[in-house]
Formats: sequence, structure tokens, C-alpha cells
Amino acid sequence: VEPAIGVDIGGTKVAAALVEADGTVLDSAEVPTPSAADQVAEAVADLVARLSADHAQIAPRATVGVGAAGFVDVDRSTVTFAPNIAWRDEPLGRRLAQLTGRSVVVENDANAAAWGEFRFGAGSDIDDMVLVTVGTGVGGGIVHRGELVRGGFGAAGEIGHLRVVRDGRPCGCGRRGCFEQYASGSALVAAARERLADGGPGTTALARAADDSGVTGPMITTLAQGGDPLAIDLLAELGRWLGEGCADLVAVLDPRVIAVGGGVAAAGELLLQPVREAFEAHLPAAGHRRAAQIRLATLGQRAGLLGAADLGRRAPMTTRERA
Ligand code: BGC
Ligand code: NA
Ligand code: ZN
Repeated sequence: VEPAIGVDIGGTKVAAALVEADGTVLDSAEVPTPSAADQVAEAVADLVARLSADHAQIAPRATVGVGAAGFVDVDRSTVTFAPNIAWRDEPLGRRLAQLTGRSVVVENDANAAAWGEFRFGAGSDIDDMVLVTVGTGVGGGIVHRGELVRGGFGAAGEIGHLRVVRDGRPCGCGRRGCFEQYASGSALVAAARERLADGGPGTTALARAADDSGVTGPMITTLAQGGDPLAIDLLAELGRWLGEGCADLVAVLDPRVIAVGGGVAAAGELLLQPVREAFEAHLPAAGHRRAAQIRLATLGQRAGLLGAADLGRRAPMTTRERA
């Protein structure tokens, strides 16, 4: 089986990797996500060209599987909408096939990551799972009976846009109060900035760390791991939102496992324990049912790349964009 190229297009960076069928990453490369939407395909094509030039003997025809942070049509090529990238009806698969000369399959980024975790990571022992990705936005990917759930139009699993607060914070999707405005990495950073602006007690360590560069998610994680009470508190608040959201997912999907991934998952138990506590406290029919086990995703940044590569490799020829 030939290696495939997996691509992960997020709100912050674009990454690509050459991946073997067993999930081994042979090589990878990344660049920041271009702010102009029409430059994203070019950025991906450059990464693909770089990988294939460095592996000319093994990657001549490798399929490209792409995970993109937006609503992907059932055609598995068009990104109809993206809340955090300026894509509207973007023919991403077609443009990439033209630019790379390869066959291309596009999938939602969280779906791709869920598939990666299911095949090679946190869900490799079960066949019903949901992955919640916590990054720039909140994404969801559902695997049921060993298959990715895409829904009738391709956009199943958009759990970042469940409304959790009536008339709440405005969201990139056009409405208010969406889950991702409270439970994403961006929301974590926004909450930290607010606390800094208030300048209350306990903000000194964060203020010092944030000095010229500004607050980042990894900064909060590092401070929390060092025992900083404010950082621990910020992660716990995020964890409570996530735990309540996971309890709602159980009401609809009742998966065996819910895995929590994305950059913030690097915080480990500092995030997961509050998630579990809120989950158990908000579970419908708590105490009278079996419910999903909450786990950390295990593949980190690689989940999307591995999943996209594997989905690309498996896609029937008829569902691919061809050069
Ligand atoms: C988008 C999803 C995406 C998620 C994570 C959300 O804002 O609607 O399509 O999967 O962010 O990137
Ligand atoms: Na999804
Ligand atoms: Zn929304």
C-alpha cells in the first residue's frame, strides 16, 4: 500500500505529512494559515510539492486527503462555509487537484481527526466514538459502527455550533451563544485577557508571561502545570463548559467514548478532570445509565494528518477530485 499525503488546514496553521498505511509519519511540513482565503490552496500545494520533491521515489502518485476547518459538502470537495477562515463555497478539492496534479479528497478537519483517533489513537479499541477538538474553534467528529458519520449534506458533527447560551456571544457562523464561543482555545485566551485587564489578584504570573507576546493557550497550560492558580482556574472553567457539552452529546449520540483533542488537550488532567466532573454532574439520567468514557485524544497534532491521509487512501475513485 502506497503512502498518502494528509493535510490539516486549521484557523492558525496548515500542515501536511506523508503517511504510511499503518499511520507512520514519514515526513511533515507546515506554514501559518494565509489570511487571504484564496491563498490557502496555494499554501497546501506548496507543502505537497515540498514533500513530494523530498520523497520523489515513494510519493509520485500519493493521494491527498485534506482536513479543512469548515463545512464540507457531501461532494467531499467543496467547503461551503468556514466560521474562522474566509471561505464561502470554496472549490478546495478541485483547485488542489489542479494545483497538485493528484487526486484529492476533502473532509472536515474534526472529522479527519476523529478518524485518525479512531484508527490509530484514543478510539482504536472501540467502534463508537466522538472526538471533540478544542482549538481556534470547537470541532466534532462522529464515528458510529466503525464509520465516519457525515450526515445528509456532509456537515454532521458541527458541535461547536450547538447553542449553549441564548443571546450569548456572537459567533463566526452568524448566530449567538454557540458552544465554541465558550469552550474553544480562543475562548480560553479571551477569558485570560479579560482577567488580565481586570488586573485582580493572582494575575502577576500571567501578566509577566504575556509581557510582549500576548496571552497564548500553551502559555496558560505551562503556567497551570507549574501550579499557577489563575491558569488552573481558567482551564477548569473551560473544562466545565466542555464537560457540560459532552453530557449533551450523550443525550443525542450515546457514544462509547468521547475523546477530547486539539491543542488544549496538552493540559492533560488539568483539563480532563473538570471535564469529567461537569460531565457526570450534567448527564441526563445520571446514576441510571451507562455513559461514555471521557478520554484524552492521544495523537496530538497528528490526528488530523493521519486521519486525512487514511480517508484519502480509502476514498473510492469516484468520490475523488482528479487532476
Ligand atoms: C467549524 C468546524 C471545525 C471546527 C474546528 C468550527 O468553527 O465550524 O467546521 O471543524 O471549527 O476547526
Ligand atoms: Na465535524
Ligand atoms: Zn456558531
